[in-house]
Amino acid sequence: MPGAIYAEGLVKTFGEVRALDGVDLDVPEGTVLGLLGPNGAGKTTTVRVLTTLLQPDSGRAVVAGIDVLKHPNEVRRSIGLSGQFAAVDEYLTGRENLQMVARLYQMNAKAAKARAAELLERFNLADAADRTAKTYSGGMRRRLDLAAALVVRPPVMFMDEPTTGLDPRNRQALWDVIEELVAGGTTLLLTTQYLEEADRLAHDICVVDHGKVIARGTSDQLKARTGGERVEVVVHERGHIATAREVLAGFGKGETTVEEHTRKLIVPVTGGARLLAEVIRELDSRGIEIDDIGLRRPTLDDVFISLTGHAAELTLEENGGTGTPAPVRTPEEAAK
Ligand SMILES: Nc1ncnc2c1ncn2[C@@H]1O[C@H](COP(=O)(O)OP(=O)(O)OP(=O)(O)O)[C@@H](O)[C@H]1O
Ligand SMILES: [Mg+2]
Repeated sequence: MPGAIYAEGLVKTFGEVRALDGVDLDVPEGTVLGLLGPNGAGKTTTVRVLTTLLQPDSGRAVVAGIDVLKHPNEVRRSIGLSGQFAAVDEYLTGRENLQMVARLYQMNAKAAKARAAELLERFNLADAADRTAKTYSGGMRRRLDLAAALVVRPPVMFMDEPTTGLDPRNRQALWDVIEELVAGGTTLLLTTQYLEEADRLAHDICVVDHGKVIARGTSDQLKARTGGERVEVVVHERGHIATAREVLAGFGKGETTVEEHTRKLIVPVTGGARLLAEVIRELDSRGIEIDDIGLRRPTLDDVFISLTGHAAELTLEENGGTGTPAPVRTPEEAAK
């Protein structure tokens, strides 16, 4: 039986861009799927198709047991969505926004009021509850949008980068809310650029790139696939990065990653502590001074880099260099 969120061969093109190039997903009921991928990978497009906001060119999708293309209105009644761009009414207060959503979902006035108050408290918005949303900061708007998505505790939820722009305390608060929601049986598809978030919340992870799922599994499975340990070296001088890279290439079992601004080089290795000693000797013999060196287990970031060839949280300029088109959004798009 297909899961609470199921997709098969989703294709969506925008002119020349193949935003989705055959996406398959299957999310068992009551679990969290983390959708990871670099900018422009197709995450938001996937979410928009699954939430009925966008028609795919081909493919099939079933959400909460309902065919998304055949019965979009029924699907809408069974899902909650928090988009990458907050969709709140600027001219209403935070409280009014939430009560309006509750009323749209046919709650009576009393229940709507109670649910709004509870969510405002939960998302640390109680103090600002009676100000119009246009006076809210970016993080406050996002929290209000998330609260709005949670008004009715839908059986299936979609969250597109829910914690982008939230401070650590509010991010933590949202994670707690999500965990409660899922414990209550909700199925969640979440996109994120914070791999720590996927590590913590997602039962399964799908990595997408260029509109295709390029890897899937649990966080541990993906880490195991990426191989064993890594040597991380921070060189003292920027001018030594190139030579250090050469040295590491001689020991590495894969590509060396360089973070220029922190003067850090990372290379996958096998051989443990003994190899570390050799690396140190070799760097020393080449006259490279190091600030820090260590062995560590792969993180989800390493998985991401090895699969997609670049790090998460790229800036648009950096993204330009990868050949992946940066997302284009009209203001109308952004308002969705
Ligand atoms: N309405 C649209 N018109 C034209 N191209 C679009 C449209 N929506 C998305 N695209 C393109 O489709 C591709 C996938 O975009 P999408 O928004 O799904 O990426 P994403 O994975 O959500 O990226 P990000 O991490 O930046 O949010 C991009 O190349 C983007 O430019
Ligand atoms: Mg997106």
